[in-house]
Amino acid sequence: MRVLSGIQPTGRPHWGNFFGAIHQYIDLQEENDGFYFIADLHALTTVREAAELRQNTLNAALDLLALGLDPKKATLFVQSHVPEVSELTWLLMTGTPMGLLERCHAYKEKKAKGMTADAGLFTYPVLMASDILAYDSEIVPVGQDQVQHIEVCRDLAGSFNHTFGETFVLPNAKTLDHGAKVPGTDGEKMSKSYDNTLPLFGNVKQIRKQIMRITTDSRAMEDPKEPEQDHLFQLYRLFSSKDDVDKMAAMYRRGGFGYGEVKKAVAEASETYFAEARSRREELEANLDYVHEVLRDGAVRAREVAAKVLRRAQTACGLR
Ligand code: TYM
Repeated sequence: MRVLSGIQPTGRPHWGNFFGAIHQYIDLQEENDGFYFIADLHALTTVREAAELRQNTLNAALDLLALGLDPKKATLFVQSHVPEVSELTWLLMTGTPMGLLERCHAYKEKKAKGMTADAGLFTYPVLMASDILAYDSEIVPVGQDQVQHIEVCRDLAGSFNHTFGETFVLPNAKTLDHGAKVPGTDGEKMSKSYDNTLPLFGNVKQIRKQIMRITTDSRAMEDPKEPEQDHLFQLYRLFSSKDDVDKMAAMYRRGGFGYGEVKKAVAEASETYFAEARSRREELEANLDYVHEVLRDGAVRAREVAAKVLRRAQTACGLR
């Protein structure tokens, strides 16, 4: 199956990105034909500093490779290295109802927060649809916040197929039970734009401090607590075996423990969990030629597929 997904190079990746999406990329690369990319065109809607975008893009490649993405099994590339995708975006744009984009949560939320909306932010889901359709993608592993965008993609593909004949493959989103909506340090969805993230890489001491600052309720230590309603417990679950999770849940229900203990357990579990990726990242940083080569090869492979799909779409709608 063709599996495809992308991540924006808008800053350092966080636990939400990993457990919602990247973890799936790595699992799915084993049995499938994985296409994973760094969405620099999408990031341009928020990162307005050339050197920063360039650095973030390279960092994202390092992160993905360090976390276990294997270029022998999957294709890793940068979105803008495949110009066919931008061309396909226009074809889709001509059939995109304004109302469909106006209903998109990501756009509505950003606008509500006072971000000035430009056409890039508004048409973000059309570029995303093009990303997916350009590679005949069947499965799109993402976090919950992107599911609506994949529905938009299906709508656009379905309506193109209806107007011009069967052209595009309709994709399906894939989310994980416990990873689809990872909470941040304040209990809201972990998000770079909410300033509540816990990063995968970076200074361990600093991250530990951030973990210690995770908000908790103010009930007395003796009180039993419902684990499922606690975001600290949800974070602990991400890193721990079923046995440990059951034990922790039992401790919550008994009461008589301090949240500080749980935070320490989260810190330790997360440090162990990412230790290998951290050292792999350091090795990769010393071997940037290799990383550039991976991205170059990835773009060649991705362009081959996208060019065919673009030609198919152009022919269908009368451009050839
Ligand atoms: P981005 O960079 O915002 O996020 C990358 C992935 O991380 C997931 N994610 C989360 N999952 C669980 N809990 C969270 N708190 C959390 N925060 C983020 C996102 O759902 C996403 O899967 N639009 C995409 C990038 C993109 C793309 C695509 C994805 C561009 N084109 C085509 C799939 C297919 C985005 O903003 O990702």
